[in-house]
Amino acid sequence: MIYLMNSHTHSTVVITGASSGIGRELALEMARRGHHLGLTARRMPLLEKLREEIHSTINPKLSVELAVLDVCQTATVAPALKDLFGRLGGVDSIVVNAGANDITDIGQNDLAKELKLIDTNLSGAIATIGAATEHFLGRGKGHVVGISSLASLQPIARQAAYSASKAGFSMYLKAARIELRPKGITITSILPGYIATEIVDGVDISKLPFAIPASQAAREMANLIEKKVESGVVPAFPWKFVRPFLGHLPERFAHY
Ligand SMILES: NC(=O)c1ccc[n+]([C@@H]2O[C@H](COP(=O)([O-])OP(=O)(O)OC[C@H]3O[C@@H](n4cnc5c(N)ncnc54)[C@H](OP(=O)(O)O)[C@@H]3O)[C@@H](O)[C@H]2O)c1
Repeated sequence: MIYLMNSHTHSTVVITGASSGIGRELALEMARRGHHLGLTARRMPLLEKLREEIHSTINPKLSVELAVLDVCQTATVAPALKDLFGRLGGVDSIVVNAGANDITDIGQNDLAKELKLIDTNLSGAIATIGAATEHFLGRGKGHVVGISSLASLQPIARQAAYSASKAGFSMYLKAARIELRPKGITITSILPGYIATEIVDGVDISKLPFAIPASQAAREMANLIEKKVESGVVPAFPWKFVRPFLGHLPERFAHY
C-alpha cells in the first residue's frame, strides 16, 4: 500500500498569543494536521491546559513547547523565542498572532490605551518577526505569518489606534516580503474580519457583521498558512468580494 505523506506533517509552527481566541483554536487545528507546536502568551496556566488538551485529545506524540512571552517587553522577545526555538530543535513557521483591541476615544484621556495597542500590535509584532527572522536566516528558509486585520484597510471610529496599529503591521509585512524573499523567507499576511473571541471588552463581537467562531476561522487560516499564500481574508466569504471596497466605504458603515 502506498501512503501519500502530507508534506506539512512534520513541520514545526510557533504561535504567539496562543492562550485564547484565534491563537488557541489555531494551535488545536495545527495539532490536528500533525504539526509540532511552540506556543507563547503571558498566561502560562492557559498554555499548560492547552498542551494537556492537545496531548489527551489529539496526539500524545506531538512536540508542544511553551514559553511565557509579553511582546510589549520587546527586549525579552528575542531571548525567549531563541530558547523556545532551541527546545523545538528548529522552527519552520511563526504565526505572529498576539494582539489586543480596545475601544478608544480620541481626546478623552485614552492615550495610554492607544499607546498600548501600538506597543502590542505593532512594536511587539516587529520584535517577534525580527527574532524569528534571525532564526530563519540561519536556516536559509522560513515562513512568517502575520495576523493583521481588515481594520488595516478600513478605518473605524473609536478604533483609530487599533486601525493604525494594524495598518502599520500590514505595511511592515509587505516590506518584509520584498526584503526577505531573496533570502528564502516567505511572508503570509492574514486579514480577519469579525471573529467571535474576547478581544474587545464590552463589545459582543458575535453580533457584528459576518462574525464566525474562532474554530472556523482557525480552519480557514490553517489552509492559507499551509498554502503559503501572500495574503488572505477570513472568513473568505464575503470579505474576498468586499475587500477592494474597504477604505472607500461611506462613513456610516465605519462606526461601532
Ligand atoms: N477577533 C477578531 O474579530 C479579530 C479581527 C481581526 C484581527 N484579529 C487579530 O487576531 C489576533 C488574535 O485576537 P483574538 O481575537 O484571538 O483575541 P484574544 O482572544 O484576546 O487573544 C489575544 C491573544 O494575544 C495574547 N496577547 C495579548 N497581549 C499580549 C502581549 N502583550 N504579549 C503577548 N501576548 C499577548 C493573549 O494572551 P495573554 O493575555 O495570555 O498574553 C491572547 O492569547 C489579534 O492580533 C487580533 O488583532 C482579531
